[in-house]
Amino acid sequence: MDGGLTLTWLIVLLVIISLHNSRWVSGTLHANQSSRRKLEMEEGFISIDCGIAMDSYYTDGETEIHYTSDAEFINTGINYNVSMEYIHEYTNQHLMNVRSFPEGVRNCYTLRPRQGKNHKYLIRARFMYGNYDSKNQLPIFKLYLGVDEWTTVNITDASSIYRKEIIHIPITDDIDVCLVNTHSRTPFISVLELRQLNDSIYRPTEPGEKDDVYDRIWKPFTWSSWLSINSSLVSSSFSTSDYKLPGIVMATAATPANESESWRISLGIDNDPSQKLYMYMHFAEVADLKGQIREFTISVNDDESYAGPVAPGYLFSVTVYSKYSMSGSTTKKLSFSLKRTNRSMLPPIINAMEVYMIKEFSQSSTQQNDVDAIKRIKSGYAVSRNWQGDPCLPMEYQWDGLTCSHDTSPAIISLNLSSGNLSGNILPSFLSLKSLQNLDLSYNNLTGPVPEFFADWPSLRTLNLTGNNLTGSVPQAVTDKFKDGTLSLGENPNLCPSVSCQGQKKKKKKNKFFVPVLTSILSAIVILVLIAALAIIRKLTKRRETKGIFFLSFSFFLSEDLTFYYSIFVVISLATTIETVTERPKEGPLKSGNCEFTYSEVVGITNNFNRPIGRGGFGEVYLGTLADDTQVAVKVHSPSSNQGPKAFRAEAKLLTRVHHKNLVRLIGYCDDSTNMVLIYEYTSNGNLQQKLSAREAADVLNWKQRLQIAVDAAHGLEYLHNGCKPPIVHRDMKSSNILLTESLQAKISDFGMSRDIQSLSTDPVGTPGYFDPECQSTGNLNEKSDVYSFGIVLLELITGRRAIIPGGIHIAGWVSPMIERGDIRSIVDPRLQGDFNTNSAWKTVEIALACVASTGMQRPDMSHVVVNLKECLETEVASRRIQRVGGHSIGSGNFLENAPLVLSTEVVPHAR
Ligand SMILES: *[C@@H]1O[C@H](CO)[C@@H](O)[C@H](O)[C@H]1NC(C)=O
Ligand SMILES: *[C@@H]1O[C@H](CO)[C@@H](O)[C@H](O)[C@H]1NC(C)=O
Ligand SMILES: *[C@@H]1O[C@H](CO)[C@@H](O)[C@H](O)[C@H]1NC(C)=O
Ligand SMILES: *[C@@H]1O[C@H](CO)[C@@H](O)[C@H](O)[C@H]1NC(C)=O
Ligand SMILES: *[C@@H]1O[C@H](CO)[C@@H](O)[C@H](O)[C@H]1NC(C)=O
Ligand SMILES: *[C@@H]1O[C@H](CO)[C@@H](O)[C@H](O)[C@H]1NC(C)=O
Ligand SMILES: *[C@@H]1O[C@H](CO)[C@@H](O)[C@H](O)[C@H]1NC(C)=O
Ligand SMILES: *[C@@H]1O[C@H](CO)[C@@H](O)[C@H](O)[C@H]1NC(C)=O
Repeated sequence: MDGGLTLTWLIVLLVIISLHNSRWVSGTLHANQSSRRKLEMEEGFISIDCGIAMDSYYTDGETEIHYTSDAEFINTGINYNVSMEYIHEYTNQHLMNVRSFPEGVRNCYTLRPRQGKNHKYLIRARFMYGNYDSKNQLPIFKLYLGVDEWTTVNITDASSIYRKEIIHIPITDDIDVCLVNTHSRTPFISVLELRQLNDSIYRPTEPGEKDDVYDRIWKPFTWSSWLSINSSLVSSSFSTSDYKLPGIVMATAATPANESESWRISLGIDNDPSQKLYMYMHFAEVADLKGQIREFTISVNDDESYAGPVAPGYLFSVTVYSKYSMSGSTTKKLSFSLKRTNRSMLPPIINAMEVYMIKEFSQSSTQQNDVDAIKRIKSGYAVSRNWQGDPCLPMEYQWDGLTCSHDTSPAIISLNLSSGNLSGNILPSFLSLKSLQNLDLSYNNLTGPVPEFFADWPSLRTLNLTGNNLTGSVPQAVTDKFKDGTLSLGENPNLCPSVSCQGQKKKKKKNKFFVPVLTSILSAIVILVLIAALAIIRKLTKRRETKGIFFLSFSFFLSEDLTFYYSIFVVISLATTIETVTERPKEGPLKSGNCEFTYSEVVGITNNFNRPIGRGGFGEVYLGTLADDTQVAVKVHSPSSNQGPKAFRAEAKLLTRVHHKNLVRLIGYCDDSTNMVLIYEYTSNGNLQQKLSAREAADVLNWKQRLQIAVDAAHGLEYLHNGCKPPIVHRDMKSSNILLTESLQAKISDFGMSRDIQSLSTDPVGTPGYFDPECQSTGNLNEKSDVYSFGIVLLELITGRRAIIPGGIHIAGWVSPMIERGDIRSIVDPRLQGDFNTNSAWKTVEIALACVASTGMQRPDMSHVVVNLKECLETEVASRRIQRVGGHSIGSGNFLENAPLVLSTEVVPHAR
């Protein structure tokens, strides 16, 4: 795909002539006197009148083509009106103004046709100098198409219209049309047009394909040694022929004035043997021959019998084209002649002719990924440099501040934006420059934290952030990566040079003296506490509190980075928890009145239920704060809810039995005679469904984050199915039941409907859209029903759409025709803007499809799903090696709070 393809071809139209017409004609269908037909289908058209005021537009009176201002296609150049003396009654409006480019060597228009890359387009640029700058200086400049030189524009007359046309199949969605200053005065442009052609025409290598284009411009042509003849009839067969030629073009023809002579024409061309030329000649008899024969042969240069004999039918067009390329003779001419055959009673005739030149380009462009990233950086910071066209190629026009590798497909290896007037945060787009080795952002006005992603950027060697206004502390990982002095951070007054400096400055100093003493004392205390806890646990089976102690000890020792103590405690805690688990009654029923928190405590925790944060099946959920400032979610059972106390107790019972980092953690409950309350860990990022409906670009989950969430949720479900004995079926798996923590770790919640596989009732419960259709028809509910629901969640993650798409279409039904078409980009959430590894995406789609198979038998087990999703994640990570780190939580406070929670769950073994 990108990068690999190095050969593209272009056709430059040399001449399209219609013989003996009195005016310029374009188009195919209408044969009245209108010189350019009204185009019914302008969809594939871009028509730009260069130099008119921003946002203005008009419809050309003659052609009814809609012209717009060029302001949205280019952001450099100056608008001018041509001088009054060059404007006549018949001057087209689009020639009355120009955009001129006194600044910059290369200025580019970026055209983005709706149909995108790999389609055939006719691109046409027109120029009329008209002394717009009152200097009477006729310029010579070059046109480039992307990185390839297209042609030279040599303006030799101020009132002439110069037209350059090319048929092009771009390999990228953007087509850059660039004007390059050759130091021969100022480049300018009057009109720029793009027309989509039918992909099957003008294929010189397969000339059998016949069709026609829209909006060709035919130039009338005559010569003193020619006679013109015309037909009073305009035959509809002209336009219904293979080439759909305009009737008015074909109704006129030329013959030699001297009937016995041949008809001749020659074109001056470069004598470049690599030049490939193709011609198309169109013939139709315009006179009623009354039985006479008109027959002739066609010769090209010295080839006397290149084609023929041809005997055109009355009012019926026939086209002769060159099957193979032709090249010029040594006289730099390409000459054609039509010679009557011996039996012909009339001289030859010709109605229209086209000649094309093929340009083959072997130069490739900069890696698309880098082009996209640098363009995002350009627009993100509104970079004011003349950054246009391809960033790396051609080398002489490389963007200012860039260094590129010069492989077959160049990549950006160094970026210098020093003193570039940048402001705002450091954008994650930098990360997409996968080959970048040196980044200089010094002396700008960048604010916000130093992102941690710099540490995970394998290629990056030097980073210069001197002279900005960055805040927060520098992540340890970043300091470590650049410890050999390749990181410059000076002159950032509000930046802490290391993680521990913020809010811990005093402690740090103390540590030098107190660390050994403090750790010894604390470790002794903690060991004592642990032993005591162990004893208590054996009696009371109040596990959670013990866990709390572990967490604290971890957090303390981790922060001191004492791996030795850490490992000791891992071992101890493992031992303790294993014992706790085995000693705990297998099915500890939740007794009424068995409160870990009293109701008045709950009132205190929630500050009298003043911050509702959501609504579950049981009733309202409130935000609460424990004495140690931990935030919790407090679920209060409402008697009016649709789930009875049974479901409430089921959830509490289940959650006291199962523990996994990807299941929401129950902190406590209260179940006295009148109130039922469950207290959970609080997850600050809401649920997956909310997150997937984010509209702000900054809130949209990227592909890696989505895969991580999928892996997390799959882990949680796999644990319920395979880690618990007897297995537990969740029965209400859906995106709104997947909660996300600050660091986007996914946790499954809402176990109100969950059941042991043994105590499953056959009453079908679940949510429409996620509910297993097989179960619905057979009532046979098992783990595979969860797998189905999980597949739907995966499809939501992939496509960014809801399980039931507005209009009542089920997501599985919506996605399957797209899969058949094989276009991953139309399947994956468009908000990702194509920023994902396609292999990884395909594999994820395959997993989702396997999960939503119609029968449980066909669906994979969750353990397979976990393994496969991990592979998807690895593919994605490997493909970019570096990824944006979610969020900017680099404060030390966050570090202490989150790390132990994550760790603690790793040492808690599966319940059994
Ligand atoms: C040409 O044909 C179009 C549509 O058939 C018509 O609107 C227009 O007036 C015609 N022009 C002339 C000059 O007859
Ligand atoms: C060109 O002329 C139009 C009116 O004919 C005027 O409105 C416009 O401002 C002129 N543009 C320039 C760049 O002088
Ligand atoms: C431009 O055209 C003029 C007149 O045809 C010719 O003399 C001159 O050499 C051309 N210049 C270039 C650079 O092609
Ligand atoms: C292109 O031409 C072919 C053959 O005439 C036709 O089948 C096809 O529909 C055309 N495509 C478009 C986009 O017009
Ligand atoms: C065709 O030729 C006749 C004279 O023979 C002339 O009056 C008429 O204008 C011509 N038509 C065109 C379209 O050139
Ligand atoms: C930097 O940005 C801040 C906030 O936008 C602004 O107040 C300040 O003037 C800027 N400084 C420079 C040197 O541009
Ligand atoms: C960072 O940039 C400043 C100014 O551009 C320069 O003086 C310094 O040497 C650079 N440091 C590195 C490590 O490139
Ligand atoms: C740096 O940013 C702070 C706010 O974050 C602002 O108050 C201060 O003026 C900025 N300093 C400069 C030099 O722009």
